[in-house]
Amino acid sequence: MRNTPIAEVIEGLLESKSMFRNRDVLRSTYVPDYLPHRDREVEALLKILVVALRGDTPSNILIYGKTGTGKTAVTTHVGDELEKVGGKRGIPCRVLYMNCEVIDTQYRLLANLARNFGKRIPMTGWPTDQVYSEFRNAVDSKEQVVVIILDEIDKLTKKGDDVLYSLSRINSTLKRAKVSLVGISNDLTFTEFLDPRIRSSLGEEELVFPPYNADQLADILQQRAEMAFGNGALGGDVISLCAALAAREHGDARKALDLLRVSAELAERSGSMSVHEANVRKAQSRIESDRVEEVIVTLPTQSKLLLYGITMLDRATGSLRKPSGRTIMSTGEVYRIYKRMCGMIDLDALTQRRITELISELDMLGIVNATVVNRGRYGMTKEISLETPADHVHDMLITDTRLQPLMDLKLDSFQAQLGM
Ligand SMILES: Nc1ncnc2c1ncn2[C@@H]1O[C@H](COP(=O)(O)OP(=O)(O)O)[C@@H](O)[C@H]1O
Ligand SMILES: [Mg+2]
Repeated sequence: MRNTPIAEVIEGLLESKSMFRNRDVLRSTYVPDYLPHRDREVEALLKILVVALRGDTPSNILIYGKTGTGKTAVTTHVGDELEKVGGKRGIPCRVLYMNCEVIDTQYRLLANLARNFGKRIPMTGWPTDQVYSEFRNAVDSKEQVVVIILDEIDKLTKKGDDVLYSLSRINSTLKRAKVSLVGISNDLTFTEFLDPRIRSSLGEEELVFPPYNADQLADILQQRAEMAFGNGALGGDVISLCAALAAREHGDARKALDLLRVSAELAERSGSMSVHEANVRKAQSRIESDRVEEVIVTLPTQSKLLLYGITMLDRATGSLRKPSGRTIMSTGEVYRIYKRMCGMIDLDALTQRRITELISELDMLGIVNATVVNRGRYGMTKEISLETPADHVHDMLITDTRLQPLMDLKLDSFQAQLGM
């Protein structure tokens, strides 16, 4: 039985202190007013776009950089500033943000753009040319500056070339308005696959965002931490550790912020009022295993089977190696196992060449490590090893029903078959 009045319980709960002052600022959707270590990029972008406010035609821009280098944050921030300056000077200025990972066809892209100008476009059905004309006419209905940000532009399906061609040359068909296209890509090789005419008109200006180093990440974290936490909530080494771990990957600010947020959440859940190094280490392994899991469960069946073969090889030889050592496998070995397993689950085996490509993909995803080595007169081969503990990967793969017939495959009979 409770003998404390309810009002007092609520008081107590409200007063029970949290280490957070504002936890939302640690989320990746939050964009601070000032972006440390991006002055150069902010200025470069503003300089290119601001000419439109003087009545000249602005260049189109392509922005490249790895994930978490601040491309989206900088571009949306500059967009906001431009709208503000335009407003003050009485020049109508619209900045339209489109994420091509979500809006991934040319019809949807044009329809979305046109709807921003009050046009009513059905979800499907019109010829694309007509949607484009609607958009073009709406833009040119008055003097204005329109900046179209196409984030993750490389995700626009291959069929998107026509729309990029038209949009990147739209200025030559406009009488009153000025349009600038800002394409953002995580993939530095993206333009290699574009029609050269589109490449040159889209990339009139190019900006590359370099990865952050550990010191820069620490500054970015420090800025957020001051807003997010109350005094004394962070142990002395927490920020530098988060920054160092994120810098080791590829200088990803999103990763650094995620680490700090998850560390704090883990500390909070354990009833602590402050965050310490141990929380960061735990957060790091939690995030990594979540990421691996997400990658593995979404792999196509062929890649899953290939990876299953690799884990079996790793486990079968595991008892034979030193505890610290990794099992190194060759493409040929992996291919033989893969092919045999295809027979067991009624899957058509791919060629060894295709499997070599899939191995490279797994390498890029960070699931395996594949190094090309030169074996002299035997030619080039790949040395493959697992990046994540085999048992862990195995357990995730076996949740796929197509792979379940392989579950009964005993390690020892497998070893015998391999002649171990
Ligand atoms: N210079 C910076 N200062 C403060 N926060 C930053 C900075 N660069 C990136 N961020 C933050 O890191 C996260 C990832 O940045 P984002 O712009 O989405 O990266 P990208 O688009 O290059 O993948 C976001 O939460 C963003 O606010
Ligand atoms: Mg982005």
